Amino acid sequence: MHTFEELSALFSETFGKTHFPREPHTLYEPNNYFLSMGGKRLRPTLCLMANELFGEISPDAWNVATAIELFHNFTLIHDDIMDKAPLRRGQQTVHTRYNGSTAILAGDVMMIRAYEYISGIDLSLVQRILELFNHTAVAVCEGQQLDMDYEQRDRVTMEEYLEMITKKTSVLLAASLQMGGILGGGSYGNLDLLYQAGKKIGLAFQVQDDYLDAFGDPEKFGKQAGGDILANKKTFLLIKALGDVRGAQKEALDQLLAGNDPEKVSKVISIYRDCKIDDWAIELKHRFLNEALQHFDDMAVVSKRKAPLKTLAQQLVKREH
Ligand code: IPE
Ligand code: IPE
Ligand code: MG
Ligand code: MG
Ligand code: MG
Repeated sequence: MHTFEELSALFSETFGKTHFPREPHTLYEPNNYFLSMGGKRLRPTLCLMANELFGEISPDAWNVATAIELFHNFTLIHDDIMDKAPLRRGQQTVHTRYNGSTAILAGDVMMIRAYEYISGIDLSLVQRILELFNHTAVAVCEGQQLDMDYEQRDRVTMEEYLEMITKKTSVLLAASLQMGGILGGGSYGNLDLLYQAGKKIGLAFQVQDDYLDAFGDPEKFGKQAGGDILANKKTFLLIKALGDVRGAQKEALDQLLAGNDPEKVSKVISIYRDCKIDDWAIELKHRFLNEALQHFDDMAVVSKRKAPLKTLAQQLVKREH
């Protein structure tokens, strides 16, 4: 058995050499640039860890893990265009360093390369993996569109927010775990529990992402501080604040959201603090974490083998980047 740290390090060793040809370098250099910027490699490692629940890690699990990380990086390149984000992993985003059109194509070709890795796996598994992969990719597109639609709306409910983050973030974590389980020959019961656990980890993960966007240390987080506030993203922070504020503070918040105050970020953050967002974030993350841990507990796999995944889930809700 391996820990997350061990497996993500092993994965990173081979993933760095993921192969784009040299020419046209105007297309592939941006891809190599982006892939060399690092990242936590969470999703491929989830796939490998789930695979290891059922025995030795299979060669196909490495291929699917590679496909998943390529797909994730493709979504990030396009997400940064949509979110007009200048920074990612502490460096310039692809569309700002190169240009928007190149970033679109660089993402496209990365996604196609992901499919090449999947098409190379054992023929008896390719259809099942591909179906899950496609289902996930469609959900991510839907979630990303909802995320942008909500920027334009004045109010979004907590339920709508959870649906949106389930689609844009959770399903990829859930599918990463389930694909590892499928390749390991897990039973239907265990595969379902892996998926449910991944969804809950994904919700806690995006809640923490939204929290760090406002309250994180930009040096560690590697993204523009307050980017979500500037874009009027309907994060749980804003939904909670909109539900809590009254009187003059409500007017102030509505005005900040409608206008272009140069101190918008710091003023909104101070309203968040007044609404005790910290307590709320901890409560929300722990609710999802506990549900995820319960799903792992319910799996028919010896406890010792589940320990690394449970440890990882606990670490993720506290992450700072
Ligand atoms: C960023 O994902 C996108 C979200 C779903 C919040 P990660 O935080 O896993 O990004 P990297 O790959 O580690 O940079
Ligand atoms: C990203 O959500 C989800 C996907 C990339 C599919 P965010 O827009 O919050 O991710 P970051 O904060 O830019 O990494
Ligand atoms: Mg986004
Ligand atoms: Mg973004
Ligand atoms: Mg974010």
